[in-house]
Amino acid sequence: MMVRKRKNLFLFAFLLCFLLLLAGCSNGNDAAITPKSEPESESRPDEDDIVIGISQVGSESDWRMMNTKAYMDTFTEEKGYYLIFEDGQQKQENQVKALRKFILKDVDYIVLAPIVETGWDAVLKEAQDAGIPVIIVDRNVSVEDESLYICRVGSDLMQEGRNAGEWLADYLESRGRRNEKINIVTLQGTPGSTAQIGRTSGFAEVMEKHANWNMLEYQSGDFTQAKAYEVMEYFLDTYDDIDVVISENDNMTFGAIEAIKEAGLKLGKNGDIMIISFDAVRDALLLVQKGEIMADFECNPIIAPLVEETIQRLERGEAVEKVQYIDETYFDYRMDIETLLESREY
Ligand code: AHR
Repeated sequence: MMVRKRKNLFLFAFLLCFLLLLAGCSNGNDAAITPKSEPESESRPDEDDIVIGISQVGSESDWRMMNTKAYMDTFTEEKGYYLIFEDGQQKQENQVKALRKFILKDVDYIVLAPIVETGWDAVLKEAQDAGIPVIIVDRNVSVEDESLYICRVGSDLMQEGRNAGEWLADYLESRGRRNEKINIVTLQGTPGSTAQIGRTSGFAEVMEKHANWNMLEYQSGDFTQAKAYEVMEYFLDTYDDIDVVISENDNMTFGAIEAIKEAGLKLGKNGDIMIISFDAVRDALLLVQKGEIMADFECNPIIAPLVEETIQRLERGEAVEKVQYIDETYFDYRMDIETLLESREY
């Protein structure tokens, strides 16, 4: 297991970069040294701080904002952490630059929330060669050599998709609609992201057992409300009998609901269209309570404490599991959402 590096090395590397920049000795890679989110006058870690570079996907959804806040709340100065946070703004190239910056700064740990699964081999090898342990969070990476990262901490995104499918099957059964033809459209997340791949394939696995479920079309709304609104408008223009919308996150659900209401259609069990969503953020649960969302499958954004526990174990030289899933549940319109919300953080 990697041993944490000494801070004097960090300071040396940092000072060297700074002097090179001052001397105008550009290596043509300045963007990697000073990306947009870098504060102008950066503070320095204390000698004993654990320095963590976090490369976040972006701020595309309510889930993501909560996920980011949890990192900030967890890796605090008071607890002896020095956090370098980089927002990838939904672009893999920004995330790769951020990782190179972390390597240059010789951080103790890199925490990567990868936007998509592929394209990480080279930069993760650079981190490994530099002796920096990488923890993958939230989504997954698909790399040839799995020793390039220590572990992944996040959701079982495929299971979420399966759970949604099973819920729909049970619901249709309970309504005597088991054999009825059910027309479905899917608003997918960012193509190639684990949240998209997992939820789509998990649901598809259940769909295979139901020949009467008819998937009309898959289209990406990129996990954003604005794109999903447009895609939902297109679905409604194209198909006149949509029974179910599978929306791979809550923000896309918000956009879809807007489009459906504007089209004069009704939502819910006695309406025209039923929506099944993922994330279970507070605003979406309020819509579950109103019956506008039929069921919402939780994707727990509070990953940070489990990441911290993993880092502490690594600090003590302990082994950690390669994949660590976080606990998750689901909510549907038949539950007492009001009471559930009272004790819910997000
Ligand atoms: O990877 C987790 C997904 O990414 C969440 O479902 C979504 O809201 C976010 O953008």
